[in-house]
Amino acid sequence: MNVLVCGGAGYIGSHMVKMLHRAGHEVVTFDNLSTGYRHAVKWGEFVRGDLLNQTDLVKLFQGRHFDVVMHFSARSLVGESVQNPALYYRNNVIGTFNLLEEMRKRKIGKFIFSSSAAVYGNPVTDRIDENQPTNPINPYGRTKLMVEQMLKDFEAAFGINSVSLRYFNAAGADPEGELGEEHNPETHLIPNILKAALGQGPELKIFGDDYDTRDGTCVRDYIHINDLCSAHLKAVEYLENNPGCHVFNLGNGSGFSVKEILQAAEQVVGKPIAHKIVERRSGDPATLVADASCATAHFGWKPGFTDIGKIIATAWDFHSSQVLGRAQGT
Ligand code: UFG
Repeated sequence: MNVLVCGGAGYIGSHMVKMLHRAGHEVVTFDNLSTGYRHAVKWGEFVRGDLLNQTDLVKLFQGRHFDVVMHFSARSLVGESVQNPALYYRNNVIGTFNLLEEMRKRKIGKFIFSSSAAVYGNPVTDRIDENQPTNPINPYGRTKLMVEQMLKDFEAAFGINSVSLRYFNAAGADPEGELGEEHNPETHLIPNILKAALGQGPELKIFGDDYDTRDGTCVRDYIHINDLCSAHLKAVEYLENNPGCHVFNLGNGSGFSVKEILQAAEQVVGKPIAHKIVERRSGDPATLVADASCATAHFGWKPGFTDIGKIIATAWDFHSSQVLGRAQGT
């Protein structure tokens, strides 16, 4: 297959590019490098450009044929989306609209979209399946839901078939150590814990211990990055035989509290990690755990990394090798 990966220089997109390349597909990464890194695109062709720039889009599609488009380009921080919703509506909604318009003109009929558990808002049950009401509580989640809705209309009117994958908490790194999570600034739990362990960041701040959960800290469903990526490959196969507009959750189905993640990380790094309890972070629901049985039932996807210690260990290998690399000047 010829695959266009929009956002292939970012955390999830770069792992996807590697997996596609390994599976023998031709890959083109399109990325504006606003949050991704050129060094993370190690396979296939790289085209620098912006989905908001018509000239960049024309250049991207000219002379190239794609069988499928995977779309990872998005702003993805809940807090930032509250502060600057314009950035989110412009990038996530208008950017995706521009991409779909190009696909329509060129009759590209397969689209895999990175959606999010953020579309559910405050869930009404602890384990969330796809039939839960969607009621996003922040602009980020609303942009993801808007695209899902746009996809329904584009399928009905223009025949663009799609799978929207609602990710729970992406975690871990390439088990071969070539790629990992590099956000700047870093806001995510596991990298912040590991940075604290490496002395690269301040002590870990635990945002609130007064939630209605087993130890008072928020519970999340952490899913290994390679498991997310393997679901994309399965979703493409599924679309071949099941045209339409589909939505699936991707998660492990088990929840870990912030304190449990910290303890698991301490086991992995072999020492205590400095931390303190601070105020709640606004916009954090208490518990988000996926029921991802639909993805298993429909396209035979099952996560391979079900042990949280193993997921964290892949992230630890990446973060510690980065520090070692910097110390050695490589
Ligand atoms: N947390 C801390 N300290 C930190 C960082 C996080 O206590 O330094 C806590 C958060 O409050 C939350 C949990 O750890 O309870 C997980 O936080 P992350 O920032 O790692 O992840 P989120 O659950 O906030 O966000 C993820 C994705 C978003 C997506 C969301 C869906 O990163 O893109 O899931 O709910 F919108």
